[in-house]
Amino acid sequence: MELKIAVLPGDGIGPEISKEGVKVLENVSQRFDHKFIFKYGDVGAVAIDKYGDPFPEETLKLCEKSDAVLFSAVGDPRYDNNPSAKVRPEQGLLKMRKSLDLYANVRPIATFEALLSKSPLKEEVIRDADFVCIRELTGGMYFGEKYESDNMAYDTNIYTRKEIERILKIGYNYARRRRKHLTVVDKANVLASSRLWRKIAQEIASDYPDIKTDYMFVDNVSMRIIQDPKFFDVMVTENTFGDILTDEASVITGSMGLLPSASIGGKTPLFEPVHGSWPEAAGKNIANPIAQILSAAMLLEYFGLVEEGRLIRKGVELSLQNHISTPDIQKEGLKAFTTEEVGTYIANAIKHLEL
Ligand code: IPM
Ligand code: MN
Repeated sequence: MELKIAVLPGDGIGPEISKEGVKVLENVSQRFDHKFIFKYGDVGAVAIDKYGDPFPEETLKLCEKSDAVLFSAVGDPRYDNNPSAKVRPEQGLLKMRKSLDLYANVRPIATFEALLSKSPLKEEVIRDADFVCIRELTGGMYFGEKYESDNMAYDTNIYTRKEIERILKIGYNYARRRRKHLTVVDKANVLASSRLWRKIAQEIASDYPDIKTDYMFVDNVSMRIIQDPKFFDVMVTENTFGDILTDEASVITGSMGLLPSASIGGKTPLFEPVHGSWPEAAGKNIANPIAQILSAAMLLEYFGLVEEGRLIRKGVELSLQNHISTPDIQKEGLKAFTTEEVGTYIANAIKHLEL
């Protein structure tokens, strides 16, 4: 298969993990005789520095011409502590999601047997936890009308029927391919927007009689995620709730550096780690490349390259079993490996592992 892949390394640790994602994809293409064509673009603070725009026209064009985007991270401390900054790196990511119409963000959360002890939660609570959070990505407070003055500010949490229906359908389709259990997460006891979510979910539920639907308030879900994560199969929720719940859920796996995601729905699908740009670690070669590498696996699986995706996952598992790991997940007492060493190990495994 031939795939044109736009690579957007972004800021902070982005360029380091991006390199490892590409390295792995290159080895997959060699082994399976695919042709992956990588073209690079700028997003985030690097794009502000170069073009004065965190998601410049050039990058949009590159994404539109590509079959998929492999994105890493944006964010820079120069902007974090400056609330009056006119442009911010994060706006680049939001603009990219909006202009590519990537309204569904699929975030799988599953434990790795080799890392159970790395989680602050008890092993018996998290062993075999395996769920997917479907986060609405182009609506809600992130994109609703905003106002900011010195004495008052607001964000509008706006959702239309169309936006809610399409994301719920994605949730149901995932549930259908998994354990047939969908949890609709909202705050319908307080928020009008959530009541519309729940109303539409109740209407749609009858189209999916094979799926067990339940409705839960987001505060309750945030508790249940760490108390009883095995309860969940697929959850679907609005943009802000999904952002918060998936950072929380990453604790189950032991490190944020492990969680990949796929942003889909619109023109060009985009694959991105759940974690951010971790500026303190930039250039130190210590960031975990696994979230990025698993995002590459999700990219391949999106195009039906299931065996290829499985092989990447096997390579990741092997690195974990053999403790070829970055400091965030390395076993106590063992020397940690660099970003590059972990990426190279997984890339090499792809050459040799049995299918
Ligand atoms: C994420 C990130 C982004 C978000 C930021 C960087 C804008 O936290 O992908 O979860 O809030 O969506
Ligand atoms: Mn987030």
